[in-house]
Amino acid sequence: MARANRKPLVSGNWKMHLTHLEAINIIQKLSYSLDASDPSYVDISVHPAFTALRSVQTVLDADDLPMALGAQNVHWAEKGAYTGEVSPGMLAKLNVSYVIVGHSERRQLFGETDEIVAKKVAAVFAAGMTPIMCVGETLEVNEAATTEERVLGQLRAGTAGLDPEQIGSMVVAYEPIWAIGTGRHATADDAQAVCGALRAAVLADHGEGPGGAVRIQYGGSVKAANAADLMAQPDIDGVLVGGASLDPGEFAQIVHSARS
Ligand code: 13P
Repeated sequence: MARANRKPLVSGNWKMHLTHLEAINIIQKLSYSLDASDPSYVDISVHPAFTALRSVQTVLDADDLPMALGAQNVHWAEKGAYTGEVSPGMLAKLNVSYVIVGHSERRQLFGETDEIVAKKVAAVFAAGMTPIMCVGETLEVNEAATTEERVLGQLRAGTAGLDPEQIGSMVVAYEPIWAIGTGRHATADDAQAVCGALRAAVLADHGEGPGGAVRIQYGGSVKAANAADLMAQPDIDGVLVGGASLDPGEFAQIVHSARS
């Protein structure tokens, strides 16, 4: 499948920001900044904290806004004695379409291993949603020039047991850890090299269908000023945006830069 057949996905990861009231406000502002033609060339997802999901969903549905609802995390079990966790079914019932899995903050701060990531990815699919599985290397790994080995290892471990159709329909987000929240982004060429290697691995492991269809995002200090350049790369099918997604005007500009 050629690049032309992969619709870019621009996602806003709000992390642990915004109460439900603030989230409603941001969504309303964002809706004024988007164009009616946007859904024809780009998919958009917003990922509020769990406490704001229901409020944002209500606004998206009531005003028929061209954005998909996303979550930032999920547990892998359907239900049970897991105090403080949220199940895939609970998210699906809220019309959540995309779930970020294995974000580096969860891997680094909350002990998520590749095995946990794989269980979550499978559980997201089982509940009828699409995982955005994050991979990325530390500065140390980057400086040792072993980035590809690290991210391909994370890719293969996180997708173990999926069928080819699932792999083709998922989203992989390449987020170098040294670029997250630092203002230091990977150059478009460097990001393309890693995203190209990820696609090549899917092609080699699962064939042309999944390799051509899987969408690969870049994330890490994406701003309106660098988004177009990143998304112009042949293997970068969108961006996963942290800080800049909290500013509706800037996020809308990033969305619009997917047009080219
Ligand atoms: P920043 O855009 O703030 O660097 O965050 C990136 C990120 O972690 C998105 O998931």
